[in-house]
Amino acid sequence: MPNILLGVSGSIAAYRACDIARELMRAGHTVRVAMTRAATRLVSPDTFAALTGNPVAIDVFDEPESGQIAHIRWAQDADLVLIAPATAHTIARLAFGLADDMLTTIALATRAPMLIAPAMNPAMWTHPATQAHVQTLQARGVEFISPAYGVMACGDEGWGKIADTATIVQAVARRLLSARDLEGVRVLVTAGPTYEPIDPVRFIGNRSSGKMGYAVAEAAIAHGAQVTLITGPTMLTPPAQAQVIRVQTALQMYEAVQNEFAQCDAFIATAAVADYRPERTLPKKRKRDTQSWTLNLVPNPDILGEVAQRKEHRIVIGFAAETDKAIIRAKNKLLRKNLDLIAVNDVMEPDSGFEVDTNRLSFIFANGRVENLPLMSKRECAERLIQALAAMMERKVRHTNSQE
Ligand code: CTP
Repeated sequence: MPNILLGVSGSIAAYRACDIARELMRAGHTVRVAMTRAATRLVSPDTFAALTGNPVAIDVFDEPESGQIAHIRWAQDADLVLIAPATAHTIARLAFGLADDMLTTIALATRAPMLIAPAMNPAMWTHPATQAHVQTLQARGVEFISPAYGVMACGDEGWGKIADTATIVQAVARRLLSARDLEGVRVLVTAGPTYEPIDPVRFIGNRSSGKMGYAVAEAAIAHGAQVTLITGPTMLTPPAQAQVIRVQTALQMYEAVQNEFAQCDAFIATAAVADYRPERTLPKKRKRDTQSWTLNLVPNPDILGEVAQRKEHRIVIGFAAETDKAIIRAKNKLLRKNLDLIAVNDVMEPDSGFEVDTNRLSFIFANGRVENLPLMSKRECAERLIQALAAMMERKVRHTNSQE
């Protein structure tokens, strides 16, 4: 049964962690508790030890199980880390990667999925500092279980109450399930723009930031997939668990995809590939003169369209950035490129498309079904896309099994 590492920090809601621990155990999980010093002033470690049947760790040098280095062993054993309640201070320490007690040290040493249920005064929750830390952690794949609205222990009213126990336990169950639904699946992702060199200092590029593709790679990893990320030039840090292949031009991306395609089970093309490149790259920087300059452009290969023609058992997903008649054009693109799913966005909308953190996507499936998603973060869009991929993979497995 899954091992849950329950981190308890010093919010007045710390007593609720007793209930959470009990419900997790009732669901069949093994629970180990790491508490912050502040939390021990609110609930005794003995209470958690009695509830869970396991020793409780507080300081970095605690060795509750003799002969084991707890912060490493507990970090490796955990199938999921749940921090409930999480104070503003603990969220900040996690965002900075501090490791000054057992809880934060385990958080740094583990590779298990992490869920955080914040509990604090509404002013602290909505403070830009806290919200920035939340965003930092979300960018690393940490999931937040949003606090509820209500009257706080201090009498203030607003968002900041820890979510109820059932919501937290359900989120844990969902995350444990989804953390495995792409286990063993090899996902190939292209991301970012391509740069097509004119001369040693100039290129033709586009405004793609790579955010959508990197979020897709992160989401696939969070679902247990083995990810290869082929990326054009971006300012982003790729997920640590991905195999990364860096390219500059469309031709290099084409070659990398061709090399990797045979080994993948799913291909997701999010890259904004330049459709044209200069016919020739000048060996030296072109000097300014008074003449006009005509560049001759030749078409680049359609990477997605080409490999999808020989996709066999693979699931192939494309993106479409459109400026008008988005759904009709994307449906045609899906057919033309032989895709299983196309995610389309209207880049003329201010909150959707290049260089922003949000997207308003529609998913169009090969059977013609259209699913319009509301405006959401690129991270959430990526999660929905990966959920759709997992569902398609599962259908495929069921179909194959029923034929055998
Ligand atoms: N794509 C690709 N190689 C190209 C162009 C696009 O792999 N040379 C992929 C993109 O990664 C995306 C999808 O194809 O997943 C659609 O890209 P888009 O630019 O919308 O379509 P195009 O094929 O370029 O068609 P058009 O320019 O007519 O919209």
